[in-house]
Amino acid sequence: MAKLINGQAISAEIKAEIALEVQELKQKGIIPGLAVVLVGSDPASQTYVNLKEKACAAAGIYSEKYALPSTTHQDELFDLVNRLNHKKEIHGILVQMPLPDGLDEESVIETIDPWKDVDAFHPSNVGRIMIGNYRFLPCTPAGIMEMLRREKIAVAGKNCVVVGRSNIVGKPMAMLLMHANGTVTVCHSKTKDLADVCRRADILVASVGRPKFITADMVKPGACVIDVGMDRDENGKLCGDVDFEPVSKVASAITPVPRGVGPMTIAMLLRNTLTAAKIQNAIPNRKKVC
Ligand code: GUN
Repeated sequence: MAKLINGQAISAEIKAEIALEVQELKQKGIIPGLAVVLVGSDPASQTYVNLKEKACAAAGIYSEKYALPSTTHQDELFDLVNRLNHKKEIHGILVQMPLPDGLDEESVIETIDPWKDVDAFHPSNVGRIMIGNYRFLPCTPAGIMEMLRREKIAVAGKNCVVVGRSNIVGKPMAMLLMHANGTVTVCHSKTKDLADVCRRADILVASVGRPKFITADMVKPGACVIDVGMDRDENGKLCGDVDFEPVSKVASAITPVPRGVGPMTIAMLLRNTLTAAKIQNAIPNRKKVC
């Protein structure tokens, strides 16, 4: 039976560390500030944004939420981001994705000041990640790396398979695993013999967005399985991209859904906001994220 990797508990540990650092900064007169922008009324996005706000409050981070209607024009969004770029109290800006149809995500991301880009989605931050010289790391892949580190699951020399090639998770995940000296394969919808490729993985990261897509026959005995999915099963129950019960009988370690990767993403957002506040106040950052 696989060891359960408790993302909720690990994230609580990290959040407590961040809260202490926030207190230290406050003694220097600096309060880290995050602006969260939500456009439209997608229920999942609303839930994520609320969780992010709550986590900020618990860590002592100031936050502002901007909830805009789905009819918002691209220029209005640019104006808001530009105002936040110049707002002194705000060190980090997060525009929740996906944006409603008609809004161009790429150009909105490019409007965010790269020094305030706590998602690390801006092309200049993406480029920095590629060369391994970064300010911020995207929250979900960074959270997964931190989880592996704290669980003492070594990456160097391991076969790592990432299923999914999104800009938010799959691509940066592959890059971080490669920086950690993993041998990385990225799979996607056109991959031939996907099950065979997955079965070679010592570390398997599933980020496909399809409920229970990774079945036990796709997992090598003893593998570590990381589930990024947030899906609904046939009964409407929350589940991941991994068929949890059967896979946990084959794997050596596995993340659950919920209480796995999700809480780690939020902890990394707080850490990036803290880092942004330090950078913008010329305070050396003690911790390297990855
Ligand atoms: N949508 C899903 N994950 C994320 C994330 O990490 N950041 C933003 N901004 N939107 C998301």
